Amino acid sequence: MKDNTMNEPTDNVATNIEENAFSGQTVGTPLCDDAKMSMRNVNVFYDTKQAIHDVSLDIGKNEVVAMIGPSGCGKSTFLRCLNRMNDTIESCKVTGDIKLEELDIYHPKQDVVPLRARVGMVFQKPNPFPKSIYDNVAYGPRIHGLVNRKYDLDEIVESSLRRASLWDEVKDRLHSPGTGLSGGQQQRLCIARTIAVSPEVILMDEPCSALDPIATAKIEELIAELSQKFTIAIVTHSMQQAARVSHRTAYFHMGKLVEVNDTKRVFTNPEHELTEAYITGRFG
Ligand SMILES: Nc1ncnc2c1ncn2[C@@H]1O[C@H](COP(=O)(O)OP(=O)(O)OP(=O)(O)O)[C@@H](O)[C@H]1O
Ligand SMILES: [Mg+2]
Repeated sequence: MKDNTMNEPTDNVATNIEENAFSGQTVGTPLCDDAKMSMRNVNVFYDTKQAIHDVSLDIGKNEVVAMIGPSGCGKSTFLRCLNRMNDTIESCKVTGDIKLEELDIYHPKQDVVPLRARVGMVFQKPNPFPKSIYDNVAYGPRIHGLVNRKYDLDEIVESSLRRASLWDEVKDRLHSPGTGLSGGQQQRLCIARTIAVSPEVILMDEPCSALDPIATAKIEELIAELSQKFTIAIVTHSMQQAARVSHRTAYFHMGKLVEVNDTKRVFTNPEHELTEAYITGRFG
């Protein structure tokens, strides 16, 4: 669910800040010692239009990093770079270095299929396949050849649904269509499908924006639990959500990474005036 209460555009102050304040140098702590993914000097273009400008950022092992910023600032574009989802957009060109530990994910010989098994993605709108609940979760392990025996596949399906906090609600109807679940259940099914291939990193692009507050709370609890095992990057429009689920928060503005800091700091004592203008609702 979009949270518009804290970031309604209000006056012209922000426009002046926008024009004057950002030097182009990210403030705060964009890099970390124990990086699971590291991005350096990333630029993204759609044809000739540049959507991301020289962004460098690390995401630490088992860390949850939230990406926030006004609509159109490039959050989804940047997130999609992390598992080469932008490859599916013909006009899109990415430059710079993006590594998953030591692996250069944009190396010309890098196959995107195994990469996306290691760096999974959960989208804004739940998108279960038109298959049964069981087959949705079993899909990844099957195509990646992770199991040979039905018994092992059953185990993966059950443990993934359990970890996604969905097992109890669906265990008696595993062979019913995934599309027959409620929105919040569908999103948890998509999370189960993502974790079934044991990714190392999970990318989430506004995973709760189509959900009600109860379903949102469930997904947020789940994120906290998943972070024990996985590294997570989440785009959200809800500052409360970023504050609840993330360790560090990255504030994007017009394609630039303005500030990255501990989440608490970003929301209580931001270092950059653009971040402050955004979190206090002076523009959205
Ligand atoms: N497929 C595309 N083709 C051309 N331009 C695009 C494409 N996708 C995004 N853009 C442009 O890139 C810029 C960044 O868009 P992006 O979707 O990454 O922003 P966002 O921060 O995720 O916004 P929102 O909060 O609304 O989801 C915008 O100017 C947008 O119009
Ligand atoms: Mg987006």
